[in-house]
Amino acid sequence: MSKQPIGIFDSGVGGTSIWKEIHALLPHENTIYLADSANAPYGLKGKDKIIELSIKNTEYLIDQDCKLIVVACNTATTNAISILRATYHVPFIGIEPAIKPAALQTETNSVGILATKGTLSSELFSKTSGLFASNIKVIEQVGEGIVELIEAGKVYSEEMRQLLTRYLKPMIEAKIDYLVLGCTHYPYLMPLLIELLPKHVKIIDSGAAVARQTKAILEKHELLNMQTDKAENTFFTNGNPKVMASLLDDKFEVKYLNF
Ligand code: DGL
Repeated sequence: MSKQPIGIFDSGVGGTSIWKEIHALLPHENTIYLADSANAPYGLKGKDKIIELSIKNTEYLIDQDCKLIVVACNTATTNAISILRATYHVPFIGIEPAIKPAALQTETNSVGILATKGTLSSELFSKTSGLFASNIKVIEQVGEGIVELIEAGKVYSEEMRQLLTRYLKPMIEAKIDYLVLGCTHYPYLMPLLIELLPKHVKIIDSGAAVARQTKAILEKHELLNMQTDKAENTFFTNGNPKVMASLLDDKFEVKYLNF
């Protein structure tokens, strides 16, 4: 049982930021990563479509005998994870914007959140934000166009710099001291964000927390892989394998799969 792979999916290449955290914490686990890049971005789609695509990805991973599924996409988690959990009996780990730690730690009472339209308009996000951040100022910004540029392999482009400069401006003016990254594509923007934000602004990314949660749930279900053999890590995309391989520093083979 425990040799079965962990399945991970995202609307595209962004979830590899989560895969890296999982692989660093659980190097002996076999993994299968599915990038639905042909349908990216999910963030501009309606809830029903996001649910339909999340079901398609989940069923593929279950067919591959995955023991646990990581929904490495804020948009899919906030719109579809409750349905996935109610429909399939493998354990699911999701990711949603870490608004709580930002709200608890802010000293300026002002935090920024950059996420997709689908995440910011979800019921789950408004619930979490109402619960933990009702007393502070939250500057929400839809990261329109960011996912598309990353999917096109243009992370460090002039276009990206211009978009981010525009999106961060109202946050800087509102004196945020925390920026929450609400999309798994965004950790790849870290060097640019550090450059463009005032030095005191802390950036919160929940990738490491997702990896810790994955480990805890595997332990709870006695599903950890105790083998010390080299793990098998398989990457599938229905988009351009080269873009994904470059985000993995060309250390892994990425296969094209029409799913
Ligand atoms: N990585 C996805 C997320 O975390 C990107 C969403 C999209 O495809 O718009 O939200």
